[in-house]
Amino acid sequence: MEMIKIFDTTLRDGEQSPGASMNTEEKIKLALQLEKLGVDIIEAGFAAASPGDFEAISRISETLKESTICSLARAVPKDIESAAKALEKAKYKRIHTFIATSPIHMEYKLKMQPNEVIKRAVEAVKLARSLCEDIEFSCEDACRSDIGFLKEVALAVIEAGATTLNLPDTVGYRLPNEIGEMIKEMKTCVGDRAILSVHCHNDLGLAVSNSIAGIQNGARQLECTINGLGERAGNTALEEVVMILKTRKDIFGNLDTNIKTKEIYATSKLVADITGIRPQPNKAIVGKNAFAHESGIHQDGMLKHPETYEIMKSSDIGIPQENGLVLGKHSGRAAFKDKLVSLGFDGISQEELDSAFEKFKILCDKKKEVYDEDIRSILTDQTSKIPQIFELISLQISSDSNGVPYAAISIQKDGTNRIDAAIGNGSVDAILKTIDRISGYNGVLKDYKVEAVSEGKDALAKVVVKAEFEPNKPAFIGHGLHLDTLQATARAYIGALNSYLSMQKLM
Ligand code: KIV
Ligand code: ZN
Repeated sequence: MEMIKIFDTTLRDGEQSPGASMNTEEKIKLALQLEKLGVDIIEAGFAAASPGDFEAISRISETLKESTICSLARAVPKDIESAAKALEKAKYKRIHTFIATSPIHMEYKLKMQPNEVIKRAVEAVKLARSLCEDIEFSCEDACRSDIGFLKEVALAVIEAGATTLNLPDTVGYRLPNEIGEMIKEMKTCVGDRAILSVHCHNDLGLAVSNSIAGIQNGARQLECTINGLGERAGNTALEEVVMILKTRKDIFGNLDTNIKTKEIYATSKLVADITGIRPQPNKAIVGKNAFAHESGIHQDGMLKHPETYEIMKSSDIGIPQENGLVLGKHSGRAAFKDKLVSLGFDGISQEELDSAFEKFKILCDKKKEVYDEDIRSILTDQTSKIPQIFELISLQISSDSNGVPYAAISIQKDGTNRIDAAIGNGSVDAILKTIDRISGYNGVLKDYKVEAVSEGKDALAKVVVKAEFEPNKPAFIGHGLHLDTLQATARAYIGALNSYLSMQKLM
């Protein structure tokens, strides 16, 4: 059996998706889940890009114990030194340095001659290797580079100490047979001196097919993101490539990964919750409809023999099997704990369990049916470790069809209650304006989503807001969970503000 290394870049390339920025606590939470999923290498960020990235990489480095933690670095000494410093406490670490090798990038972006690019690449790898044993080198825009030049760069950086050579399709331009041929030729050139890696973007919808073609021709590392998140149209989706290798054992019988596929669903949900970006319903593997059989003919076939229409089992990716109302107001703490374990929340503390149980009991009193999704949302909501700088104490809303909506809100900060009221064009506008008046920050709302957590008119409302609190700085995401959508809105907006404040010094 040959192992394919899974290199996840959700925290770096994925975070480059418009509006997908995460705060440090969210990054740590996701990194822990990626480790649980069995990811071999986690690219935790780009240390030199911002103090926030540096802090996230160092905190992840001191927290994780199994996966290799990686930082991206341009082929310049200050980036490489910063990557090494951020990775100092990692048990297993990797520096990933890169420079562009395509004619268009070298001429217009770098304004460098090919021989200067090779020189810079070699110096970067040598410096990185003096600071860390595990070095990945990427030829940015490899797929539009001259293959002869790629070979020259490859041999030079391997000689300088690179252990993995990544050949990205940076702009998502190539077709599977073209990537396959390139990898085959590079494999012949490099042999076993370095692991070849593919990193494909999805601009033409071919990222997954191109990555698979790379694997079929000798690549042994796959770079990908959860839910295919990433710059522009995104990157190769981890869940898709892993399930292709698992499902098509007839073709890939000699290949395996360390991914625990039963953790895929929980990881996908976590990424969607943190970023507020949900996979489209028909997205392969993790879309809401990926295992739903609507047509009568299909349902009939499924009842007679599941494999008539199903090539994978939803349980293989960890979708909870019974989706029913499983617990009620008479359920005890032990049953509740069992349910949490079955939903993947096995590592929670006693304090978190007690608090979740209390919220569950309150929900049972208010809501007729409590679903797995309700419980999952309670847990995801409360395990957010963002400091509660501002905390919602009470919210009163007045709105009628002919009047002017107004909100009266009480918020606590540093132990003191602050109360104010404002009118707005609608109830949401009134709430956000009142919070701005109380906090003294003037947020600009960039996105606002409401979703019912489960079925029924009495479903919990999950609100995700994205708000900008400073011009030209990233927007921050906040989540609110409540039976009342407007209460959830206030919590989500305050959450975004708290997230911004906790990251302010690091931006
Ligand atoms: O797409 C790309 O080329 C990259 C490199 C930095 C690896 O993300
Ligand atoms: Zn990329």
